[in-house]
Amino acid sequence: MQNKFHSSLFLSHQPICEGKLHYFAELQSTSDYAKQLVQNGADSGTLVIAEHQTSGRGRGGNQWQSPAGDGLLFTLVIDPDIDPLYWSRFSIVAGVAIAKAIESLSKNDVKVQLKWPNDVYINNKKCAGILTEIVSDKVLIGIGINVSTTDFPEQIAHKATSLSREGITLDRELFLAEIVKQIFTLGSMADQAFAHIIEMHHQQCMLRGKLITFLSGDQKHIGKALRLDSQGALVIELPDQTIRTYMEARDILIIE
Ligand code: BTN
Repeated sequence: MQNKFHSSLFLSHQPICEGKLHYFAELQSTSDYAKQLVQNGADSGTLVIAEHQTSGRGRGGNQWQSPAGDGLLFTLVIDPDIDPLYWSRFSIVAGVAIAKAIESLSKNDVKVQLKWPNDVYINNKKCAGILTEIVSDKVLIGIGINVSTTDFPEQIAHKATSLSREGITLDRELFLAEIVKQIFTLGSMADQAFAHIIEMHHQQCMLRGKLITFLSGDQKHIGKALRLDSQGALVIELPDQTIRTYMEARDILIIE
């Protein structure tokens, strides 16, 4: 268990969340709580943080497990100033924001990898996940980052890591302030300047050029990941050499 999160230190770095920060030692899920706040009128910049979640949610109905105090678990509410058509782009925005924050604050020379659509990896192991949801007219960005986790549940131990395991020590307050800053900055570019965000994703993308398997709907596919298109969809070359784009996919595995 690392040091308690210091809300006042965080707010001194990120005043945009002043008066909108909800900190809990334990909560079911920061995203569930943020959803209730939004339904009761919570505004952009509302931030829910928990040291521990009893029912943390991941994508596709998965659980997100994290020992108390070893991570950063939070949900940020955004009131996007862009066309609702583009709100789903916040998943990609959040991944790029986390990568930039780690690389800018880490004292080590670390290469953060992004696994489309929204997982963050270091040295081919997952260190953070993103769950983006739209509630009323707000975008809720739920993020779980393994900061100083040493012991992972057996079923994920081979594919999960934490920042400290990779030799990265960060001040959680400063780190969170930087992520929030990056999300707001990059989020404002998610309509007209989305090409820049795609380019940033490409710099960190761990799927490009790789042969992968993935699920789309109930169908399992295999193909070579070529790039993201201008909308943030994954472009795949299938074995018969046809090119297809996928807006959504899950259970992506890199074969070679
Ligand atoms: C994934 O990788 O499947 C996404 C994981 C997202 C987990 C975070 S932890 C904070 C927020 N609250 C939740 O219940 N889930 C997200």
